[in-house]
Amino acid sequence: MKLKEIVFNTSKAKIHVTSQIQLTPFTEFLIENFPDVQGLHVLDFGSGTGVLGIYASLKSASRVFCYDLNEKAIELTQKNILFNDLKNVSVLNLEEVRRRSIDIIISNPSSLPADSKINDFFDGGFYGNKMIDDLLVSSTRLLKDSGVLFFIHTSLVPFSLIEELLMKLDFNWSVINSKNLLFRPVYLRNLSHLLYLESRFPEVKIHRKGEKFYEEIRLIRVERIKR
Ligand SMILES: C[S@@+](CC[C@H](N)C(=O)[O-])C[C@H]1O[C@@H](n2cnc3c(N)ncnc32)[C@H](O)[C@@H]1O
Repeated sequence: MKLKEIVFNTSKAKIHVTSQIQLTPFTEFLIENFPDVQGLHVLDFGSGTGVLGIYASLKSASRVFCYDLNEKAIELTQKNILFNDLKNVSVLNLEEVRRRSIDIIISNPSSLPADSKINDFFDGGFYGNKMIDDLLVSSTRLLKDSGVLFFIHTSLVPFSLIEELLMKLDFNWSVINSKNLLFRPVYLRNLSHLLYLESRFPEVKIHRKGEKFYEEIRLIRVERIKR
């Protein structure tokens, strides 16, 4: 297990990572574009190392809850919370989270489209929207009425599928920021499937510069439609 020291604006955190559960450029992008969480109840949905929940605490959230469905990620999140001595961060299951009043959900979902088995940490299912679907459906139950969800979407995942669910669940959405990222090795191993999705969905975009491939990632803000 490796230990990475992350220097945020005003504070430092020490985060243990494993070969499977890591910090990624998506994590970094979310941290660079982190919403104001001061005094709020925050849920880190799909916590992995726990880094986003830990950052929320350092940014003065009043309470932070971390949730992941992977046992190893839960253990690692717990270890990192203890290691950084944060008293207002805890790991809960979804039933326990439901009893809290959540103002903000933050998520960097597993969303790499894959047609064969890859590391669970990245695996978003065939279209890449498997965890995003869970996140959106759970958010309807977990967020308070005025609550907001922030999550990352990559241009490799057909947005039409996500938009359909957002509309069905009565959510509004907007893009807060975006960035192009070079394909990582796990993407290149899965390239034929990504090219297939690009040929099938007009909104799936793989950017090309010379021989290099890029995805565009976006931070999406979601809230309930006000009636
Ligand atoms: C890409 S990682 C992000 C980890 C961390 N939040 C970060 O930003 O570095 C996604 C995490 O979501 C978890 N996960 C996958 N599917 C999930 C689901 N349906 N519900 C909750 N967590 C899930 C994975 O176990 C993994 O830890």
